[in-house]
Amino acid sequence: MVVERVKTGIPGMDEILNGGIPSRNVVLLSGGPGTGKSIFSYQYLWSGLRLGEPGVFVALEEHPVQVRINMSQFGWDVRPYERQGSFAIVDAFTSGIGEAAKRERYVVRDPEDVGLLVDVLREAIRDVGAKRVVIDSVSTLYLAKPVLARRTVMTLKRVLSGLGTTSILVSQVSVTERGFGGPGVEHAADGIIRLDLDEVDGELVRSLIVWKMRGTRHSMRRHPFEITDKGIRVYPDKVVRLGRSLRVEQA
Ligand SMILES: Nc1ncnc2c1ncn2[C@@H]1O[C@H](COP(=O)(O)OP(=O)(O)O)[C@@H](O)[C@H]1O
Ligand SMILES: [Mg+2]
Repeated sequence: MVVERVKTGIPGMDEILNGGIPSRNVVLLSGGPGTGKSIFSYQYLWSGLRLGEPGVFVALEEHPVQVRINMSQFGWDVRPYERQGSFAIVDAFTSGIGEAAKRERYVVRDPEDVGLLVDVLREAIRDVGAKRVVIDSVSTLYLAKPVLARRTVMTLKRVLSGLGTTSILVSQVSVTERGFGGPGVEHAADGIIRLDLDEVDGELVRSLIVWKMRGTRHSMRRHPFEITDKGIRVYPDKVVRLGRSLRVEQA
């Protein structure tokens, strides 16, 4: 059977995924602070817009105004797409407080309320006909109540997959944590991509690994990537060996 796939559009990434993320998968994008999770997510959505695939970004960590600024710094100006109705930002950050928030179309009045968030998200997905969704980050939803993590992710998964979207759930882990955001979440997700930043010989090195991806084979190697003002570029033909001393080698 041929697997329908959604291209991340991130240079090098689709090679690692054997063509892209299988359609309707809900992928956990996990990593510590500054590892590039938000940029990866922006690029995923932007690539979709360029391919004519509408998208929705759920902002839980930053003001929607800041998200637009962040994206435009890479040359990804989403405002024309918002105007023409193929892109939407769900504001789950401001609770509708402040002047700028009044101009937002999709506002979650109480971001703690997952039911409410799902209602607004559903509306945004329907309005733009979203094929791609990013939630940045899901960790924020259950930070105060970790026991609800699995239930929250399962709820989101049902909605996102049910509406036919292929989604990225950003998951924050601490700098030293080996996992991806907790057992409930990790098992519920269809895929896990982990971004890392490691200090080796006084230098920070970026790498990523696809830990899990339902419906496809994928690279089992840790690949280096870089962030520039054009976004993320992954090197599918190079591997990073994290050990006592780090080596980047031709695969
Ligand atoms: N224009 C750029 N060129 C190179 N690196 C950048 C650029 N913009 C941001 N970065 C890097 O990306 C990091 C932030 O990425 P981000 O996706 O916001 O991380 P996360 O969401 O995982 O916390 C910064 O700490 C910086 O190292
Ligand atoms: Mg971020």
